Amino acid sequence: MPLYELQVSAALALLLCSLAAGQVSQCAPADSLRLRFVAQLSVNGCALFVHDTGASDGPHLAVEPLMCVMDSLRGIAARFDSIAQQKYVNVPVLMKDAGMLAEAQRQLQHLSPSSVSFANVTNISVSADTRSSVRVLGFLWTPNEPVATLRLALEKNSWPLLVRKQRQSKVLFLNKQIQWFKMQDRFKHSPQKALEKVKLSASIIANGSCHDIQSRVMLQNDSIFDLDLNRQKFSPLATCGQLKFIRSINLENCSARVHQRLNMKGYFLIEPLLCHNVSSLSSESVRYDYSRDMHYLKLDLVLQDEATRDAVRTQLADLSPGSVDFMRLWTAERSVSSSLSARFEVGPLMASADWRSAQLRLYCGNLTECRDLRSAVLTEPTDLWRHVQWRVTSLVAEQCLSKSSKITSSWRMKPSEDAESYSSLKSWARLQCASAQRTVDSSSAFQLQPDGRCFLKIQQRLTDRVSFQRSWTEYETGFGEGTDFWIGLSAIHSLSQGGATLRVEMKLWNGSELHAEYAGFQVGDASTGYRMTYREMLRHRSSVSFDAFLEHHKDMRFSTMDRDNDVSRYSCSNECGRGGWWFKDCHHVNPNAVFPSREKIECRYMTWHSGSVSLSLREVRLMLQI
Ligand SMILES: *[C@@H]1O[C@H](CO)[C@@H](O)[C@H](O)[C@H]1NC(C)=O
Ligand SMILES: *[C@@H]1O[C@H](CO)[C@@H](O)[C@H](O)[C@H]1NC(C)=O
Ligand SMILES: *[C@@H]1O[C@H](CO)[C@@H](O)[C@H](O)[C@H]1NC(C)=O
Ligand SMILES: *[C@@H]1O[C@H](CO)[C@@H](O)[C@H](O)[C@H]1NC(C)=O
Ligand SMILES: *[C@@H]1O[C@H](CO)[C@@H](O)[C@H](O)[C@H]1NC(C)=O
Ligand SMILES: *[C@@H]1O[C@H](CO)[C@@H](O)[C@H](O)[C@H]1NC(C)=O
Ligand SMILES: *[C@@H]1O[C@H](CO)[C@@H](O)[C@H](O)[C@H]1NC(C)=O
Ligand SMILES: *[C@@H]1O[C@H](CO)[C@@H](O)[C@H](O)[C@H]1NC(C)=O
Repeated sequence: MPLYELQVSAALALLLCSLAAGQVSQCAPADSLRLRFVAQLSVNGCALFVHDTGASDGPHLAVEPLMCVMDSLRGIAARFDSIAQQKYVNVPVLMKDAGMLAEAQRQLQHLSPSSVSFANVTNISVSADTRSSVRVLGFLWTPNEPVATLRLALEKNSWPLLVRKQRQSKVLFLNKQIQWFKMQDRFKHSPQKALEKVKLSASIIANGSCHDIQSRVMLQNDSIFDLDLNRQKFSPLATCGQLKFIRSINLENCSARVHQRLNMKGYFLIEPLLCHNVSSLSSESVRYDYSRDMHYLKLDLVLQDEATRDAVRTQLADLSPGSVDFMRLWTAERSVSSSLSARFEVGPLMASADWRSAQLRLYCGNLTECRDLRSAVLTEPTDLWRHVQWRVTSLVAEQCLSKSSKITSSWRMKPSEDAESYSSLKSWARLQCASAQRTVDSSSAFQLQPDGRCFLKIQQRLTDRVSFQRSWTEYETGFGEGTDFWIGLSAIHSLSQGGATLRVEMKLWNGSELHAEYAGFQVGDASTGYRMTYREMLRHRSSVSFDAFLEHHKDMRFSTMDRDNDVSRYSCSNECGRGGWWFKDCHHVNPNAVFPSREKIECRYMTWHSGSVSLSLREVRLMLQI
C-alpha cells in the first residue's frame, strides 16, 4: 500500500462526529435582518470582531469567537496517526476568554452598551483553502469552552521533493521511521503557514435568527488577516459624511493624506499610509509558502506609526489641530501594472490585527528569482512601487467607512537625488503610456492624444479643493490629490531634461476649450531656481495664436510666496494670488493662482493672455509629452 494513501481512521471519524453533534440548528436564516458590524478590536494581539444585535434598549454587543492561537507554535509537535497513515498537528485555538472579554468591554465603553458578551454561534464548519495543500481533519469545540482543538494535516503533495529524492536514491524499502524524521523537519515550520489557509464559517444567533460569519484563524501578535475577507463581511457599513480632505503631507519616504472631521473641531484623521518599510527587507524576507509550494518575497507596509502622526501634527500647526488620529485600514484594492503582474504573482494584502502594518506577498517562482527581486527592491524601492496603485477604504471611529477619493501610488515620493532614478521616473511614465487606454478620465495621470502622443499631467485644476498657496518646498516636492495637483519642480525638472513638449489645455467660462503647445520645454535643477525655457511655441498644434509665455515667463526662475525670484520690485506671487510660478514683472499666464468661483479677470485668479485680453480660466492642465 502506498505510504501516503489517506484513510479516515476510526479516531478521526469520532472527532468529526462530535463536531456534527454540536450543530443542531437553533435559528432560522435571517433574510432581512442584519447584524450591524460595530468594531474590530485588538486585544492581547488577537483581533476581535464586534456586532450589534440590534435590540431596542441600547446596544447589545456580540463578540465573535476569537479563533486565536495564543501560544507560539514552536511547542506543537507533529503526530502520526498510524491507522490513517497520516501526519497531523493539533493546534489549540482560543475561542472565548473572560479576561479578553473584559478588555473588550473596556474598549467599547464609549458606546454605552447594555451588554457585551461572546456571541452564541452554531453550525460551525472549518475548512482550508481548496487551492492549498492543508487539510482540516477536525475541529473539536464544545460551545462555551474557552479552547478548541484544530487538527490539521498537510497533503502528500506538499512534500513531493522528499518522495522524488528517495526514488532517485532507489530506496525501495520506505522505512517509515526515516520518513517520519525527515517530515518532522519540514513540518516544524509549517503549522503557522498552514493556519493562514484555514477558514471558519459559522452562524451567529441573534434574536432567534442566524447571521453568517467568516473568520480566519489568527496567531497572537503575528495575527494578519486577509483584507478581502473584511469587505465581504461588513459591507453594509455607512459612508462617513462630515469628512473633508485637507492636504497631502509629504514625509521622507511617503505621503500622508489628512482629512478633517467637520463636526468635531480640531479633529484630524490620516488615511492609512501603505508605505513600504524598506528597512525591514532582509534575507528573512524571502520565504517559502508550503501550501502553495512557492517562494515569495514578503514586503512590509507601514499603515500607521507615531513618527508620522507627530510629523503631520507639526505640519498642521497652522490649523491648530486638537487631535490627530489614523483611520484604520478596512479594504485596499490594488491594481498592478501588467509588467509587474506578468513577472510576479501578487498575493492578497494581509493586515495585522492592530492595523499598524500590513504585508504584501510577491510570489516569484523560485528562490533565485525571489532573491534577485529582493536585491532589486533594495537598490531602488520606488521602481517596484511605481507599479502598484491603491484605493483605500478606511474605518473611522468604528462607525463608518471613508473611501479615498484618489488612487494613491508611491511614485510621487520624494525622488532621490541621483540621475538614475530620474530616468527611471521617465521610463516608468513611458511604460504606463504605452499601456494606457485612450482615456477621458480626469483622475488619470496620463492623457493619450488622438494622434497617439501620450502626455503626463504635471499640473491640473478642475476644482477648488486643493489650495495652490504653497511654500517653496511644497512646489518643489509636489502637492495635491485627485484631479487637482502640482507634481513638483524636481519631478518636472527630471521629466523635461533634454527638452520635452509642453501642452497646456484650458477651458473658459463660456465652455470654449483652448490649447497651446511648446516644444523644447525644459526646467533646470534647484541650483538654477528651476529656470524655465523652451524653444518655440508650436502654432500648428495650438488653438491660440499668441505666445503667452514669451514676454513674462521664458527664461525665468520659479517664485513662490516665500521665495521671490522675480524681477519685480515686489513679490509677484504675493501680489497675484500667492501661488508659485515663473514670474517676471509679473505675468501673462498664471495657472497656479486662486481658483475662481466665476469668471474673474484679476491678477489673483487663474488667467491666460490672448494677446489682446486676459481670459479667465475655469479649468486648466499642464502636461508633458512622454
Ligand atoms: C502579545 O502581546 C501582548 C501585548 O500586546 C503581550 O501581553 C503578550 O505576552 C504577547 N504574546 C506573545 C506570545 O508574544
Ligand atoms: C426580534 O425578533 C422579534 C420576533 O421575531 C421581532 O419582532 C423583533 O423586531 C426582532 N428585533 C430585532 C432588533 O431584530
Ligand atoms: C446566548 O444564549 C444564552 C442562552 O440562550 C442567552 O442567555 C444569551 O443572552 C445569548 N447570548 C447572546 C450574546 O445572544
Ligand atoms: C449550516 O451550514 C450549512 C453548510 O455550511 C448550510 O447549508 C446550512 O444552511 C447551515 N444551517 C443554518 C441553520 O445556517
Ligand atoms: C526612508 O527610507 C530609507 C531607506 O530607503 C531609510 O534609511 C530611512 O530611515 C527612511 N526614513 C523614514 C523616515 O522612514
Ligand atoms: C521597519 O522595519 C524595521 C525592521 O524590521 C523595524 O525595526 C521598524 O520598526 C519598522 N518601522 C516601522 C515604522 O514599522
Ligand atoms: C528560476 O526560474 C528562472 C525562470 O523561470 C529560471 O531561469 C532559473 O533557472 C530558475 N532557477 C532555479 C534555481 O531553478
Ligand atoms: C468664449 O470666449 C472667447 C473669449 O472671449 C471667445 O473667443 C469665444 O468665441 C467664446 N466662445 C463661445 C462659444 O461663445
